Amino acid sequence: MKLSKLYGIGVGPGDPELLTIKAYKILKEADMIVTPRSSDDKRSLALLTIEGIIKERKNKPIVVEPVFPMTKDQAKLAFYWEKAREEVLKNAEGCETVAFITLGDPSLYSTFYRFLEIFKDAVDEVEVVPGVTSFSACSSIAKAPIAEGNEIVSIVPDVKGNANAVQIIQNADSLIFLKPKNMDEIKAMLGNKKAILGVKVGFEDQKMFFGKLNELQQPGHYLSTLIVKKEV
Ligand SMILES: C[S@@+](CC[C@H](N)C(=O)[O-])C[C@H]1O[C@@H](n2cnc3c(N)ncnc32)[C@H](O)[C@@H]1O
Repeated sequence: MKLSKLYGIGVGPGDPELLTIKAYKILKEADMIVTPRSSDDKRSLALLTIEGIIKERKNKPIVVEPVFPMTKDQAKLAFYWEKAREEVLKNAEGCETVAFITLGDPSLYSTFYRFLEIFKDAVDEVEVVPGVTSFSACSSIAKAPIAEGNEIVSIVPDVKGNANAVQIIQNADSLIFLKPKNMDEIKAMLGNKKAILGVKVGFEDQKMFFGKLNELQQPGHYLSTLIVKKEV
């Protein structure tokens, strides 16, 4: 079976109003919506972001939520990717268009490009729609810029055991930490700098913190973004 089009859609950080008009129009029409989740008992947060659009639709899309466990075990991941491909194709009878949704923007640490790799032979055309990133949303709520002038920004997904990250942290003017797990290490490297922490930004239970790095607790939630500026 071959589908006519696969869309990779960034749905933004969680606030449905931060969805682009382009994403909205595609999601109103797509025959199938694919959204990854980390386990069988967890709901997809990207799906939660667009559930209003699905409710509005008279012609409901088929929704497929393949599980992608949070693991670095490549063999396990390959197994789940293959399973996801089969699940989508099994449900695609009568479908022309598939929208793969992802939180934030698809170009940043998203599962979309991995999905595209295993799925590209099953579609004629591919289109990617950008989304508002979590850190753009954090910066807007804080009313503080991430960078100005010639400042260099770095995005750090994990500090632990990454010598490159340590070097980057020491040299960048502005830093964005995704799911910051090692707050003590970050504090030790950066000192008591100004910080913005956003947890579940854009969702109803969003929490924001603006202040000094040393006042911050280790965020417990996976959807946490920390922005630190060296000098303001
Ligand atoms: C796999 S990355 C995906 C990034 C996403 N594609 C983006 O453009 O923001 C997941 C990380 O993004 C950040 N993140 C995504 N959505 C967020 C939100 N609503 N609030 C806070 N952080 C978020 C968190 O650091 C989370 O651990």
